[in-house]
Amino acid sequence: MALYSKKVMDHFTNPRNVGKIENADGVGEVGNARCGDIMKIYLKIDNGIITDVKFNTFGCASAIASSSMATEMIKGKPVEEAVELSNQAVIEALDGLPPVKVHCSVLAEEAVKAAVKDYYDKNGIEYDKEKFRETHNCESCGA
Ligand code: FES
Repeated sequence: MALYSKKVMDHFTNPRNVGKIENADGVGEVGNARCGDIMKIYLKIDNGIITDVKFNTFGCASAIASSSMATEMIKGKPVEEAVELSNQAVIEALDGLPPVKVHCSVLAEEAVKAAVKDYYDKNGIEYDKEKFRETHNCESCGA
């Protein structure tokens, strides 16, 4: 079996929503201390709906594919739904990731959450702090 699914290869070689949004309503940047990869996600939010999303990822193929898929999954959705996006859902949408690459999808989940948190903070919107992971906590890479 190939190491990466067709979907991972597709989103890695042809990533969706790459770039930056000027005057974004929420920006999230997270890094993995161990591998040094960095992911930044920009959100445009209108009436609680994510109308546009862009990302920049300096990282491995799985991190790029995960960011691309995550942006596709939250585009057009209410911010509350974006907060619920789990790395497992991203992995499933990509038809799987190799076990050693699971932490790369965690980065995507955390970047989305960080961007939503930034939006909430900037707008003085109350939120459930339990829903926002503060630290990268991934058993596969230990970072
Ligand atoms: Fe660092 Fe994939 S190896 S995010």
